[in-house]
Amino acid sequence: MDQAVKTKKPFLTDIKTLRERAKKHLGEGNVTFTYEGDANKTIEILQAVLATEIVCVLRYTMHSVAAAGLSSEGVKKEFEVHAGEELAHALSVAERINQLGGVPDFNPKGLATRSSTEYGDAENLVEMITENLIAERIAVDHYRELVRYFGNDDPGTRTMLEGILVTEEEHLNDMHDLLVAHQGKPTLSR
Ligand SMILES: [Fe+2]
Ligand SMILES: [Fe+2]
Repeated sequence: MDQAVKTKKPFLTDIKTLRERAKKHLGEGNVTFTYEGDANKTIEILQAVLATEIVCVLRYTMHSVAAAGLSSEGVKKEFEVHAGEELAHALSVAERINQLGGVPDFNPKGLATRSSTEYGDAENLVEMITENLIAERIAVDHYRELVRYFGNDDPGTRTMLEGILVTEEEHLNDMHDLLVAHQGKPTLSR
């Protein structure tokens, strides 16, 4: 890359212009003058992310109830904690959609199609853990891609997704360890 281009610092707007701009276009929410993303496209992407998180809440919640019947209190607790964290993710994403001027889509109709992960049909503990491990692997891959996609065009959305990614990586690790504990070895490579 050309040295001049590489060392060029981003332009900084003077305070007077920042103040003037802020007073105009007050109805645009977070889509300010410096927003370099495509707000509609961002909302569309975040609706799919929201659906994914809701499906994860539902799967983990169902598993936490079903696991109790399988007398696996430790796993039940883990599923419960994850369900709560997936709900927190869903709410953050919904808030962001709202900030960008969209309406978060909580409609159960079409939810499974909008989601990148599946609800599943596990019948025993190992199957439950495996389904969640697969879902977490999808989530981690997806969030990593999205973080790169938003880059500097939308630092607000990117930072939110980075925060979620850290938790998904922990979830992935938890499911991996549970699978090892209940099966002796992971059925999926890392
Ligand atoms: Fe999540
Ligand atoms: Fe997760």
